[in-house]
Amino acid sequence: MPPLLSRRTFLLGSGAGAALMLTGCSIGKAEALSTAGTLDFADPLAIPPLAPSTLASDGARVFQLTAKAGSSLFHPAAPTPTWGYNGDFLGPTLRARRGEKVRVAVQNDLPDPTTVHWHGMQIPAIYDGSAHQVIAPGAQWVPEWTIDQPAATLWYHPHVHGKSEEQMTRGLTGMFIVDGDGPDQGLPTEYGVDDVPLIIQDRTFAGDGSFQVSSTTPEGLLGDTMLINGSINPYLIVRTEAVRLRILNAATARVFNFGFSDNRTFTVVGTDGGVLPAPVPVERLMLSPGERAEIVVRFKAGEQPVLQSHPQELGMSGELNIRAGGNDSLDLLQFRAATKLAAAAKLPASLVPPASLDLEDSSRTRGFILKDMYINGKIMDMSRIDETVGAGTVETWNVSNTDNLAHNFHVHGAQFRIIDIDGVNPQPEFAGWKDTVFLPVRATARIQIKFSPYADPATPYMYHCHFIRHADMGMMGQFTTV
Ligand code: C2O
Ligand code: CU
Ligand code: CU
Repeated sequence: MPPLLSRRTFLLGSGAGAALMLTGCSIGKAEALSTAGTLDFADPLAIPPLAPSTLASDGARVFQLTAKAGSSLFHPAAPTPTWGYNGDFLGPTLRARRGEKVRVAVQNDLPDPTTVHWHGMQIPAIYDGSAHQVIAPGAQWVPEWTIDQPAATLWYHPHVHGKSEEQMTRGLTGMFIVDGDGPDQGLPTEYGVDDVPLIIQDRTFAGDGSFQVSSTTPEGLLGDTMLINGSINPYLIVRTEAVRLRILNAATARVFNFGFSDNRTFTVVGTDGGVLPAPVPVERLMLSPGERAEIVVRFKAGEQPVLQSHPQELGMSGELNIRAGGNDSLDLLQFRAATKLAAAAKLPASLVPPASLDLEDSSRTRGFILKDMYINGKIMDMSRIDETVGAGTVETWNVSNTDNLAHNFHVHGAQFRIIDIDGVNPQPEFAGWKDTVFLPVRATARIQIKFSPYADPATPYMYHCHFIRHADMGMMGQFTTV
């Protein structure tokens, strides 16, 4: 029996206590998880379907999303109760072009209130899907907006205050691909074939096959089983020399340090908010919860490299670093290159001219300190507006993690540039448009944000740590654009 199956059988057979021990959560000494080299990659990678859409008489592209409870068969022993959009687990990939008007009819068929937040989208605050746009069970919510930002890999997920970790873990997550209106960038574009979404998550299964859905530890939920688009043990057949991967870290607490089993070089072509000015070759790429990257990997006929996550420095003390998964080595996805590969051109030397911001553009500087699940000493309060910014303006925010835990920082409704982290310019693969920045222990990031042009003094956007347990506990604040 392959090692993964026996490990899972063991988990199912011996109940939640064993699961906790394997994740190193709360019993005894923390231990690193190592699945590298152990998966047998028995299942084809699931690809989230592209959501169908219709064109309304006003020209809007209309999507339908229904959030509902279901069940998924992750392993033969017992089905797992899961939540999904238009299905049992995860959601379809929404796709629209810059300039298009988009309307999404969101139906909540769940037993609980939910929201759908469009992470990374420049969108009016009333349609942002934050904790202020709750959809009651049985109700419908119909946001509509015009896509006005560069091509990018965005995503959607629930944002009910205090419940996001639970709802995301049950399965509510999907991708939203924005296509550009400009010239083709010379990147692979065939969805699910050589342009492949990878929604990366981790889970812990309890003895009855159900997910552990909420955490009690400060680091949040760290699972011992990785899910790639909902597949536990996946392979992907490759038929072209170059494949674009749209990687979304949709875990609630785990930081992934992506790389390949043969340490090959791959090329980063995009960050959270769109393509980079030029391709950046790397061997490792670290993404914290909520961050995305688009990479291009080149393959040779017949080879079978494995996408893995490697140990990383989260800046925490030894024991904490282990508990937060920083020492883990994980098998994620095996690629199986066919014996004949269709030729793919080399990447162009430059992609798009960078839309640049100048430090001089900043009209104001603000400071944010993340510590003890607070931001600037305050716990999230739905009725308090923490900051008011000018619509369409540019500001510099200094964000400091003065805690002993790793955090990150996400801003709604806008994209930003990282100016520097502890005074050092970001590596080129993080120098593009971002909406989430990783903050190792005691790091300070200076970011320059271009705020949403939509003014609304009544409805706030949010900023928060995207380690979701922390956001649920109150490491979150609110701002309006006026
Ligand atoms: Cu991805 Cu406020 O969220
Ligand atoms: Cu967001
Ligand atoms: Cu945090």
